Amino acid sequence: MKDLTKVYFQGKREVRALDGVSLSVPSGSIHGIIGHSGAGKSTLVRCLTLLDRPTSGTVEINGVDLTAARSDALRTARRRIGLVFQQANLFDSRTIADNVGYPLEITGVPPTDREAKVAELLRLVGLGDSGKAYPAQLSGGMRQRVGIARALATDPDVLLFDEPTSALDPRTTDEILDLIVQLRNHRSDLVVLVITHEMHVVKKICDSVSLLDGGRVLESGPLTEVVNRLDGRLSKALLGIPPHESIDDSRGTLVDVLSAGERANQPVVAMASRAIGAEIAIIAGSVEHLAGTTFSHLRLLVPPEADPQAAIAELRRLGADARLTSELTEEAAA
Ligand SMILES: Nc1ncnc2c1ncn2[C@@H]1O[C@H](COP(=O)(O)OP(=O)(O)OP(=O)(O)O)[C@@H](O)[C@H]1O
Ligand SMILES: [Mg+2]
Repeated sequence: MKDLTKVYFQGKREVRALDGVSLSVPSGSIHGIIGHSGAGKSTLVRCLTLLDRPTSGTVEINGVDLTAARSDALRTARRRIGLVFQQANLFDSRTIADNVGYPLEITGVPPTDREAKVAELLRLVGLGDSGKAYPAQLSGGMRQRVGIARALATDPDVLLFDEPTSALDPRTTDEILDLIVQLRNHRSDLVVLVITHEMHVVKKICDSVSLLDGGRVLESGPLTEVVNRLDGRLSKALLGIPPHESIDDSRGTLVDVLSAGERANQPVVAMASRAIGAEIAIIAGSVEHLAGTTFSHLRLLVPPEADPQAAIAELRRLGADARLTSELTEEAAA
C-alpha cells in the first residue's frame, strides 16, 4: 500500500478514514493490523480488495497495481486477494465442497478440475471428510476452515483475514491460528494480513504488526522491534503492565525496565540492587515469549534512601531499557 487515502463525507464533514497509509509486507510473512474502533480497519479491507475505491494512493501485489485495473482486469486482480471474514458467510443450501468450489465455478473451472482442487483444499484445512456435509452441520471453527479453503481456491497471493477469530472460543481460536501458521509454512509465497483487535492473535502468529489510529499507521515493524520499546504503544499493548497509581514518595520511586533476549533471563534487578547498595523490589511484571524472543517488562520500587537515577543508569549499563514510571505516557494501543 502506498499513501492510501480514503475520504468519506458525513453530511458536509470530511472524514479521513485512511490518511496516507503506506505499508509493505514481504511474502511468507504474517502481518497483523490492529486499531481501536473507528481506526479505519474495515475501510482498509475494502480499499485493499477494491470493494471501495481509495480516494488516492495505490495497492500493489507482486508489482501489479490493483488500483490501476479496470473492469475485467480488476476482477482478475481481485482474485489475488483471498478474503476471510469474522463469520464464514457460507451458502447454507450448498454442500461444504460446493461452497469451497464456488469461486472456481464462477471463474469457469471445469467440474473435474474443480473437484480435485476442492478435495485438496479441504484436506489442507483439515476437513477432508466433510465435503458432503452442509454448513448447518458444522461447528463455528469448522465453518471458519471452510471460509479459509474457499479463500484459497483461486490461489491468491494475499490472504486477508478480517477479525478471523472474534466469534470463536479460545480453544477454537488457537486451532484456527495454528492453521494460519501451517498455511503460511505450506505456501512460502503467501502474504497473510490479519486485521484484529485481539492481542493474543498478534502474539501467537504475527511476524510483524502495525498500529492503525485515525487512519494513519502510528507504529509498524517486526514484533521483536515494536515490543522492545519501553514507551511504544504496541509494546504496551502486547507486553505492558497496567499503569500504576502514583505512590507516596516515602515508599520510594517507581522505575520501569524492559529487557529482551538473553538479558531477559539475567537477574538485572539483583545486579542493579547490588550496584546501588539498596534493595529494589519488583511490584509488577510481564514476561512473554514472542516471535522466539523472551521479553520482560518489570515495574520496580527503588527505596527512598537510594537514587533512582543511579538504578536506571545501572540497568541501562546492563543492557535493559529503564525509565522513571512517571515519565512514561499512559496511552496504550488497545
Ligand atoms: N461509508 C462511510 N461513510 C462515511 N464515513 C465512513 C464510512 N465508512 C467508514 N466511515 C468512517 O471512517 C472511519 C473509519 O471507519 P472504519 O469502519 O474503517 O473503522 P474500524 O477500524 O473498522 O472500526 P470498528 O473496529 O468499529 O469496526 C470512522 O470514523 C467511520 O465513521
Ligand atoms: Mg470495522
